[in-house]
Amino acid sequence: MTERTHGLEHGLTNYGDRDFSLYLRRSFAQSMGYSRAMLSKPVVGIAYTPSGFNNCHRHFPELLDAVKRGVFAAGALPVAFPTISLGEVFLSPTSLKYRNLMSIDTEEMIRAQPMDAVVLMGGCDKTVPAQLMGAVSAGRPAVMLVAGPMMTGRHRGERLGACTDCRRFWARYRAGDVTEEEISQVEGQLAVTAGTCAVMGTASTMACIAEALGLVLPGTAAIPAVHADRLRAAEATGAAAARLIGSNRAPDQIVNAKSVENALRALLALGGSTNAVIHLAAIAGRVGVKVPLEQLNKLSDTTPVLVNLKPVGNGYMEDFFASGGMGALLRELKPLLHLDCMTVTGETLGERLASDAACYVDRSIIASRDKPFEPQGGLVALFGNLAPKGAILKRSAADAKLFEHTGKAVVFSSLADLAARIDDPALEVTPQDVLVLQNAGPHASECMPEAGYLPIPKKLAQRGVKDMIRVSDARMSGTAFGTIVLHVTPDSASGGPLGLARSGDRIRLSVKERRIDLLVDEVELKARAAAIKPTQMKPGRGYAKLYAQEILGADDGCDFAFLRPATAR
Ligand code: FES
Repeated sequence: MTERTHGLEHGLTNYGDRDFSLYLRRSFAQSMGYSRAMLSKPVVGIAYTPSGFNNCHRHFPELLDAVKRGVFAAGALPVAFPTISLGEVFLSPTSLKYRNLMSIDTEEMIRAQPMDAVVLMGGCDKTVPAQLMGAVSAGRPAVMLVAGPMMTGRHRGERLGACTDCRRFWARYRAGDVTEEEISQVEGQLAVTAGTCAVMGTASTMACIAEALGLVLPGTAAIPAVHADRLRAAEATGAAAARLIGSNRAPDQIVNAKSVENALRALLALGGSTNAVIHLAAIAGRVGVKVPLEQLNKLSDTTPVLVNLKPVGNGYMEDFFASGGMGALLRELKPLLHLDCMTVTGETLGERLASDAACYVDRSIIASRDKPFEPQGGLVALFGNLAPKGAILKRSAADAKLFEHTGKAVVFSSLADLAARIDDPALEVTPQDVLVLQNAGPHASECMPEAGYLPIPKKLAQRGVKDMIRVSDARMSGTAFGTIVLHVTPDSASGGPLGLARSGDRIRLSVKERRIDLLVDEVELKARAAAIKPTQMKPGRGYAKLYAQEILGADDGCDFAFLRPATAR
């Protein structure tokens, strides 16, 4: 037999006799009922991630049928295989801890199994970056199919969608404006269909970023999970994967400095999730491309916010889809984009935008560039003695009245300390103070949870206080809002200066100057640093040990050092 490198003959199990390996593989494959004719076709693997612990992927069985239909119609054999699935609200301490594990699983299963191309089926927050990171490293032709967003629910005539409205109602409940009975009614109306959170949270942002990068089919990022168009997109994605076979359009060829810049522009114009900065840095890092926060600021100054969706605006993802979706947004951004970037279909971004130029756009949801919702991008990076390697503020979701502010720090040394004291009636705090949370970054034992949205202390919430400056090395859900400084880097657990802040210190925020500073003199800070005991975790075994040894800071996307190309380490 002569060597072939496609279909089931790809990457044979090593028994020391190549022909025996192939004979055995075919024999076992035939035990699944495939004919020889089917087994001679090229293979499209489908990285399949349904799980009883992932509500967002509930509709994946139906989507899988449609993907397979598309693969068959294009002349290849679809073969689904499972990988880890990450359901955002079912993982402890936080799904970010397991994103890199899922990326390793995805990469290795793509590389180890006989497939010529792969469809990545993901959606919930960390699944899309994990799959893209893995696929970039695997270097096999790949196309992503996202789950699509949930539809909204209804409560007393009002539309509700996870999870901006979850937080809004919970804040009102804490303040005593909403009864026990009403909050339990709301609970049943926040997540009413399959699919990802209904607002421009992390999952939606990552889906849109994947489209801006050119790794999902044009126009498919925002299609609601339960819409028939989502099934048609699944069928088309299967066919596209089959057409990728033999091409040089693997994700590591599509992700480059220019396409990453396009994705950053899209993120800023969407008013998208702060988490996306970390995930995009991790995806880009897999091809050795750095995403400096200074670049984010430069792009933010020249990229307007064009999308009016919660948590920044009023609409939901179903409105974004009906208003023209990513095609409409990217056409508005066209003069700012690198149009020569290749996409997964074989068209450049410029060709793609020329071919869907005549679509309807609802300007109440997607603004034109000359009449933007905000003249500058939704995110801004801050530097200063509190965050030498940067921090992020979602200014589009913050209160501009707090942008130039100096206040007294009220420091919580850990999540446990926060939980124990935030609602204590004896807590000394005023609305002008700055709430600080330490030891919640990537090197802390909680592995950078979405705890940066510190609750307003109950006694202030009950007085009607809706926003305060909050500073931490944690992340924040993409669905949350407020004047919240996140991802302070280096984080406290790795010795960052955030860990040196003490209650009563003064902290100065200046969005205009892009600074966040601890107004304490150098001598005192040095004395505090000398007295501090390291809090970095030291687990003894398993994945936790690997995580503790290899985790990088937020500025490097919280990837593992050894997963990046040698040149980027
Ligand atoms: Fe899955 Fe929000 S819980 S996207």
